[in-house]
Amino acid sequence: MSRVILGIESSCDDTSAAVVRDGVVLSNVIASQKVHESYGGVVPELASRAHQQNIVPVVAEALRQAGVSKDELSAIAYTRGPGLIGSLLVGSSFAKGLSLALDIPLVEVNHLQGHALSPLIRESEEDSVPPFPYLTLLISGGNSQIIVVKSANEMEIVGSTIDDAAGEAFDKCGKVMNLPYPAGPVIDRLAKTGNPKAFRFSKPHIPGLDYSFSGLKTSFLYTLRDELKTNPNFIAERQEDLAASLQNVIIEILMEKLEKSIGIYKPADIAIGGGVSANSGVRGAVEKLAAKHGIKAWIPPLKYTTDNAAMVATVGYYKFLDGDFSSLDETPYAKIAAKL
Ligand code: KG4
Repeated sequence: MSRVILGIESSCDDTSAAVVRDGVVLSNVIASQKVHESYGGVVPELASRAHQQNIVPVVAEALRQAGVSKDELSAIAYTRGPGLIGSLLVGSSFAKGLSLALDIPLVEVNHLQGHALSPLIRESEEDSVPPFPYLTLLISGGNSQIIVVKSANEMEIVGSTIDDAAGEAFDKCGKVMNLPYPAGPVIDRLAKTGNPKAFRFSKPHIPGLDYSFSGLKTSFLYTLRDELKTNPNFIAERQEDLAASLQNVIIEILMEKLEKSIGIYKPADIAIGGGVSANSGVRGAVEKLAAKHGIKAWIPPLKYTTDNAAMVATVGYYKFLDGDFSSLDETPYAKIAAKL
């Protein structure tokens, strides 16, 4: 008998629903919220209102594209946290209501576990996935972590940011360059025509496998402040060079700890996930690092790097196989859980 899982993701500003049959994605619908653009960041209250508007049509479309009726569903998987509490409430309430109405199990998914297991997303039976254990670099707007994925339900965070996430370094530096939010993709594009060695920004000296990006942000600000004293048009004139140099140092910081973790854990496979893993420089650097160490890099398709329900439904599928169900009493959590 086939297992059909509906996944629902609503942790931040993307409303997404996906259908996975026996571990293979049949549909993955994402409604991104444009309403935040003019504010330079996600406005939580507007995000939850938009989720409320989007959730019913997005789920209906995911079922339609999958060619699956709701009576065929085996379980509902939803993102319980971490994320914006109002946004999470919309997805979790919807998931609970649907599981009650259809009398099928509910499976809660940790958003970060979703990103960490995104290399397991398959679009066809033939797609290969990394064997366990693998090491993954999870880099998003809110997190920068190195995780040893031992199995679908056992993973260990071995390195984490002690302050800002890599995505925040892109977004906040982009903001002072007057770039639209999120600045990461814009910096990626501008960097292609800039000189990555034009400016030197400071790199952190943090022991172990932890990351830090707040010092880089300060160093970036100081450079702008000093240059603007003599040239008020500095940012506009040197946009590409600033973008390329910033991206270059972020990649160097990310790769240093990733390489260190490869030395410690000696994985045969490494993966990346999270919004920043869409960055073309990061993707190239990870490929290069893997080649240097004679290991395999699993680089996700762009659509699975940012928030998506395919990863939620995929985790849901593995938890379903384990009989790891959730009760209606579970409430969403905003902060990262101590354990994945
Ligand atoms: O995983 P994600 O979609 O969700 C959150 O953590 O909220 O990650 C969003 C982050 C943002 O900081 C965005 O600027 C960054 O991913 N991002 C990128 C690129 N595409 C998205 N950063 C650098 N280069 C990109 N191409």
